[in-house]
Amino acid sequence: METVETDVLVVGSGPAGAATALALSTYGVPNVMVTRYGSLADTPRAHITNQRTMEVLRDLGVEDQVTAQATPQPLMGNTVFCTSLAGEELGRLRSWGNDPLVQAAHELASPSRMCDLPQHLMEPVLVNAAVSRGTALRFHTEYLSHEQSDDGVTALVEDRLRGDTYRVRARYLVGADGGRSRVVENAGLPTVGRMGVAGSLNIVFEADLTELTAHRPSTLYWVLAPGATVGGIGAGLVRCVRPWTEWMVVWGYDLEAGPPDLTEEFARSVVHRLLGDDTIPVRITSTSAWTVNHLYAETYADRRVLCAGDAVHRHPPSNGLGSNTSIQDAYNLAWKLKLVLDGTAAPALLDTYSAERAPVGRQIVERANRSIGETAPVFEALGVLATSDTEQMWRNVDARKAATPEGAKQRQGLREAIAAKVYEFNAHGVEMNQRYVSDAIVPDGTPDPGFGRDPELYHQPSTRPGAKLPHAWVVRGRERLSTLDLGGHGRFTLFTGIGGDCWEEAAAAARKELGIQLRTVSIGPGQEYEDPYGDWARLREIGDCGALLTRPDNHIGFRHPEMSPRAGKLLIGAVRKILGHG
Ligand code: FDA
Repeated sequence: METVETDVLVVGSGPAGAATALALSTYGVPNVMVTRYGSLADTPRAHITNQRTMEVLRDLGVEDQVTAQATPQPLMGNTVFCTSLAGEELGRLRSWGNDPLVQAAHELASPSRMCDLPQHLMEPVLVNAAVSRGTALRFHTEYLSHEQSDDGVTALVEDRLRGDTYRVRARYLVGADGGRSRVVENAGLPTVGRMGVAGSLNIVFEADLTELTAHRPSTLYWVLAPGATVGGIGAGLVRCVRPWTEWMVVWGYDLEAGPPDLTEEFARSVVHRLLGDDTIPVRITSTSAWTVNHLYAETYADRRVLCAGDAVHRHPPSNGLGSNTSIQDAYNLAWKLKLVLDGTAAPALLDTYSAERAPVGRQIVERANRSIGETAPVFEALGVLATSDTEQMWRNVDARKAATPEGAKQRQGLREAIAAKVYEFNAHGVEMNQRYVSDAIVPDGTPDPGFGRDPELYHQPSTRPGAKLPHAWVVRGRERLSTLDLGGHGRFTLFTGIGGDCWEEAAAAARKELGIQLRTVSIGPGQEYEDPYGDWARLREIGDCGALLTRPDNHIGFRHPEMSPRAGKLLIGAVRKILGHG
């Protein structure tokens, strides 16, 4: 039987697999990516692309391509609640960084802007870049099984065009094969939760809805009509794919009864029901049934098999976290694979992948499922849950217009219930606050500052080891750069300032002794980079002559508040610990 050799076999070409392949190829690691079908995603699926993901894509050199194709943030921003698109509007929520206060927080937090890029457009960007940088991509190729030995993994794959099987022998295997992951199953990774919590339908269609939507531009239009609470994601949804002509409806079904027969006639009737106008011409382009899941893996790795994306965290699309988290998993994993494969780091570094990412996966699975439940108070405030009589439901919805104390109370209740959905549609903290604890983070002895404000809603930068490097604009001559641009690029970076010469010398010693790529960056008046706004000085939480060491994923691995006669020893010790050498 034929055997193909590579360093890393990536199973799956969705956001997790494609981003893994892209990062590996960017770092020069030979990799083969196999994917079961003959094409990339052919339906929109994921779309909300958050700031942290955009920072990752910026570091991997594809941010501009994504931005060029994406619907920009200002057009994402009015989450609309209505009885149908042509019907009555019940309220709006400024979303996805479009509330003026949240917008300021977004601008301060990152050099990158959130945007909306449907998955069928995102995947080609990632995969094209991966392939152009060296990834060997095999379509029509299905992973079947694997075996591990001390020095590698051998996977059995099937060429679905030829109908035969062959082996791929790799040093590591990345299972990025989605929500029905066979790799996770074969690796026996322990999972918590369950699949199939509720049933949902996607109906993708073309229709010119400019008249109904362009005056209240949004990515999501929620339809709170009688019947919309059955299964699915808690309400009927009309989602913009491309403004304002390509759309997707998400509609629930009763799991026990099974998915309905997805005929074109049925699909059209659901779409027209949510649009509230059956004279609007609609062209159905695809339909599919899926389930809402609530499941996460407790550990992401079994020796040389490491899993990422929906394979290890399965949840509904609420909060738009799935593809984002998948891409961020890949970014965490790829540099570790690179350093272990080239011998710079010990294999123990790979243990930190699961330690750092599994808590994030669990958090987003819980958050996304909680968000579904948090739609119920909106229905309650409308009085839709109080009766099963449709006529009475509509009378209850109308009751909020009455000039009575009850009407006022209902109006207040509805405003509050819609405002509380901020935890789904503007959860900047959920998107940006990951702080890692693992053996690849060197504690500096300071107590955990926790979060001064709600950690789900507000991004709170920190330089305590484990946190992501805070963003600040600094300048070099006429050029403006983010601190995040100075780090990343597959290497370690040491940030210091005036008087930090001992750290520059320490970095030179670390490069020599450990053979790592380590850049030094000095920020301050007269240094290579200047901090004209004083933002960096406010954010860095160390003195001018202190040091911050970022890992290749721009998370802080080590910090020291000031100069030190032991700088060389401290830095080398820290890098050795991060690399798993003790
Ligand atoms: P994904 O399922 O995308 O890819 C798996 C890959 O593995 C595919 O290429 C498949 O062909 C391949 N594969 C599977 N088995 C294989 C085998 N045995 N051998 C070879 N290849 C195999 N997320 C988000 O971040 N923002 C959002 O706005 C939304 N919105 C959203 C809306 C809707 C309606 C849905 C259904 C989902 C979302 N999501 C989302 C979630 C998002 O789609 C999901 O989290 C990502 O696609 C997960 O990416 P993965 O790469 O992990 O799996």
